Amino acid sequence: PAEDLSVTGLLRDGMESVPARFIRTESELASFCPHNSMALEPIPMIDIEGLHDYRCQFTMAAISSACRHWGCFQVVNHDIPQPVLDAALKAARDFFEMPSKEKQSYEKETSESNGSDNGIQSLESKDKVVDWGDVMFHEDLKNWPANPPDYKNAMLSYARESQKVMEKLLDVVSKELRLVPTYFRDLFGDFEQSLRVNHYPPCPQPELVLGLRPHTDPVVFTALLEDQTRGLQVRNGDKWVTVDPEPDALVIFVGEQLQVASNGRYTAVTHRAVVNKTTDRISIAMGLAPNSKVLVRPAPELLEKSSPPRYEARTYGEFRATVSHGVRW
Ligand code: SIN
Ligand code: FE2
Repeated sequence: PAEDLSVTGLLRDGMESVPARFIRTESELASFCPHNSMALEPIPMIDIEGLHDYRCQFTMAAISSACRHWGCFQVVNHDIPQPVLDAALKAARDFFEMPSKEKQSYEKETSESNGSDNGIQSLESKDKVVDWGDVMFHEDLKNWPANPPDYKNAMLSYARESQKVMEKLLDVVSKELRLVPTYFRDLFGDFEQSLRVNHYPPCPQPELVLGLRPHTDPVVFTALLEDQTRGLQVRNGDKWVTVDPEPDALVIFVGEQLQVASNGRYTAVTHRAVVNKTTDRISIAMGLAPNSKVLVRPAPELLEKSSPPRYEARTYGEFRATVSHGVRW
């Protein structure tokens, strides 16, 4: 039988210290020190039910401010039925708990960071340092595993529901730039969605590794659903801020396409995942992206003599081809 190349497969062999290829560089390890990661304030938490009542102006301003100053926030009262969220997390957990033989039928060589194949990430990566996590990637919501039987439907439901939330937020951030509400939706055209399902097993030496390396998402927005285990950290100024998982909340990340289209008014957030000794963690990242042929450029309405374009016009396909951090989207 083929060797199990996932982190989970490694762990089953019993392990007390992590293999060298997982150990981060000195400067990355320094960023784990408490004084480099002490949050002065948590990431914004926004109740988006407020968009529909007397709190509307205030809620819109809060969303826009979070997109400018953090590039991320948590949303509650987003209207996604709890069973949809529970089912997606359960399907992910059930998938990663399957015997490795079964998971391996979906395993593909995905070390080419922007290859178009789907499947679980293999540790035979050409990168120098490997992340302490297993990832299933579904480009354009395609290539589903047959098992667990409800995996595909659970993920498609989450995709549909989270797209509604992200489109609503996109209308808000358009309006907050004094553009027509549908401005960004029209600019990006028909959206495509891709899904990263992440599993971070416990690690014997969590202080030496990262579950997922620092990166920005190249998409427009990402809606991250996570279980109740801490692990996500976002960059704010010169600090890494740990996100406290909230039951029922989603974490929204501003992606690079929104940064470009807003000519830098909104900022794509750098984020990473850390791991721990005892508890595994699941997260499901749904990325909302333009079709690869769509030309993305700073909105002409936002350009003036005093604010010239800060980014070149590029198709989303060209943009993705230049992403260098190695996290697939
Ligand atoms: C991601 O960026 O895809 C996932 C981050 C996380 O697991 O918290
Ligand atoms: Fe990400």
